[in-house]
Amino acid sequence: MNTNTEFTAWVVRKENDHCTRAIETRTVADLPAGDVIIRVKYSSLNYKDALSAIGNRGVTRRYPHTPGIDAVGVVVESSAADINKGDEVIVCCYDLGMNTDGGFGQYIRVPSAWIVPLPENLSMPDAMGFGTAGFTAALSIHKLLAQGIRPEQGPILVTGASGGVGSVAVAILAQEGFEVVAASGKDAEEYLLSLGAKKVISRDSVDSGAGKALLRPKWAGVIDTVGGNILAYGIKTTKPSGAVTSCGNVASGDLPITVYPFILRGVTLLGVDAAECPIALRKQVWQAIAGKWQLGHLPALSTEISMQMLDEYIDLILAGKTKGRVIVNMQ
Ligand SMILES: NC(=O)c1ccc[n+]([C@@H]2O[C@H](COP(=O)([O-])OP(=O)(O)OC[C@H]3O[C@@H](n4cnc5c(N)ncnc54)[C@H](OP(=O)(O)O)[C@@H]3O)[C@@H](O)[C@H]2O)c1
Repeated sequence: MNTNTEFTAWVVRKENDHCTRAIETRTVADLPAGDVIIRVKYSSLNYKDALSAIGNRGVTRRYPHTPGIDAVGVVVESSAADINKGDEVIVCCYDLGMNTDGGFGQYIRVPSAWIVPLPENLSMPDAMGFGTAGFTAALSIHKLLAQGIRPEQGPILVTGASGGVGSVAVAILAQEGFEVVAASGKDAEEYLLSLGAKKVISRDSVDSGAGKALLRPKWAGVIDTVGGNILAYGIKTTKPSGAVTSCGNVASGDLPITVYPFILRGVTLLGVDAAECPIALRKQVWQAIAGKWQLGHLPALSTEISMQMLDEYIDLILAGKTKGRVIVNMQ
């Protein structure tokens, strides 16, 4: 394709630690190296995108930069053997939107190794209704199931439940037949019950028990998305032989805990890293998302916005005020 082709992108510029954001015109020649060029149709908003937009060096080191760790769209040029012009594809995680210009631009250029074919039964907006956050929820549940956790063993606690990862986790777990207890710091009871939670409890009630090695066992498993004392509470309240997944740190990166839940109850702590998920497992989880874990019947789960609304939604997600997933229409 002509590398002078112009497109619009949401660009963050950083000068003297001060970030500005604007929609700008860019050309395909501005994009980083890669063997596949994709016309992005939809992206999605994740917490990490917001960190990139405010200059967080743990996420993005080089500016000007276009965030957007998720993209779904159509291949317009490919020199990769197994990817052809016209293919509908998903790019999630890896370095997209971090130090590689991401899905908040109408075109991306990426290495073919980052690409997963869009499963046949999944629409582009529904794929971004999952995006990295939803994929992370699905991967967490895949790991709980692989650990042998089943609905008859007891309820599952989901923390940060109204967030992107939490909301998708609640919905998938309910679909799998689990009794879901959703912990949230928001007034989100109606929303979480509509996704399939059986009970909604306050964030404060799971941010407790500090200083105690063990607490009364309640859950067969926990999907934790926030870290810190809440993750510690989840581990201390998990039943013998239960399992806890950890993927996030919005509350804290610390884990104040002793070894006793592990050596006295046989609790398993499962780490979840979507970015480094091997491609074979990645494809397997996307197939489950397109099959038994489809969530298109839950319109409350996602909000669709335009590129012009990104500024406002970045501030909302940083303030912990979004519910569920935010899909960005890039057409
Ligand atoms: N490991 C991975 O591969 C991976 C992939 C994707 C995301 N993540 C991480 O997972 C976490 C969640 O991501 P997300 O996209 O779901 O973010 P999100 O949409 O912003 O949701 C986070 C939720 O956490 C709760 N929360 C916010 N501030 C909190 C605080 N100070 N203390 C306790 N809870 C708080 C809120 O839910 P309530 O109001 O309902 O409590 C909020 O909606 C982030 O840390 C993100 O970086 C990791």
